[in-house]
Amino acid sequence: MRMYVLLAIISLLIKESLLLRIVRVSIPTYRVRGQPAQLECDYELGSDTLYSVKWYRDNEEFYRYMPKFDPPKHAYKLEGIKVDLQKSDDRRVVLHQLMLKSSGVYRCEVSAEAPSFASAADEGRMEVIYLPREGPRITGNEQENRRGDTMFLNCTSGRSYPAAVLSWDIDGEKVTDPDMLVEYPPTHYTHGLMSTALGLRVPIGRSMEVRCTARVAPAWREGSEAVVGNSHLAESKEAMLLVRSSSEAPALNVMLLTLCFVVSLSLLTQLET
Ligand SMILES: *[C@@H]1O[C@H](CO)[C@@H](O)[C@H](O)[C@H]1NC(C)=O
Repeated sequence: MRMYVLLAIISLLIKESLLLRIVRVSIPTYRVRGQPAQLECDYELGSDTLYSVKWYRDNEEFYRYMPKFDPPKHAYKLEGIKVDLQKSDDRRVVLHQLMLKSSGVYRCEVSAEAPSFASAADEGRMEVIYLPREGPRITGNEQENRRGDTMFLNCTSGRSYPAAVLSWDIDGEKVTDPDMLVEYPPTHYTHGLMSTALGLRVPIGRSMEVRCTARVAPAWREGSEAVVGNSHLAESKEAMLLVRSSSEAPALNVMLLTLCFVVSLSLLTQLET
């Protein structure tokens, strides 16, 4: 009797291992707009015969592979999806020229022929991001700067998705005092791109090095290391400004600033090359 139970368990285990199953679906978590993406669906058929492999984005089918059909590959029109049929097959699908609209949940579903009709599926999310073409810009505001003992600087990021996060540094130290920072709502552009601005109010009277840093890193990955290809995804760009203490009329400050900015920028460029 005991022997019989043991045999039953063993045969169950064998059957289990012979069933169709998904080994791994790998979807890149982040890709930069314009890049291609390879989505992989690794499965084991066991004793089953493959009937179809179907790919969905947000529950809408965009690619299927059916070995009995001629041709076996077929792509469906879906906004933001361009399937590279040549490079796609029964275990992977290659998308080219990703757009912001390509973001979504990608699911691979594998089905077997009769008699089992077994099917298995798994999914993963891909987010397409857009890095800013230009670094952040620092501008002054003449009207604001005409008055008094503080100086106003404005830092504006280049367009990106998601929006860049701006921060100010004075002499290498991050500004956290809310009285010194002026927040603005993001500006929206076509294709979902955004630009952000952050103002800085600094007391004048001493020389300092002011820096504005723009970071484009998806909020949901903060604290973790996301890698695109071989380069780090979190891209940061900065603009630097040297502020000279001057006893001249405050109205001249802005001009002075602009000059210094150009100088420090060319300095930076020299350092880079
Ligand atoms: C700072 O820049 C933002 C966005 O470019 C703009 O909306 C805002 O008016 C500027 N602030 C000042 C005081 O110039």
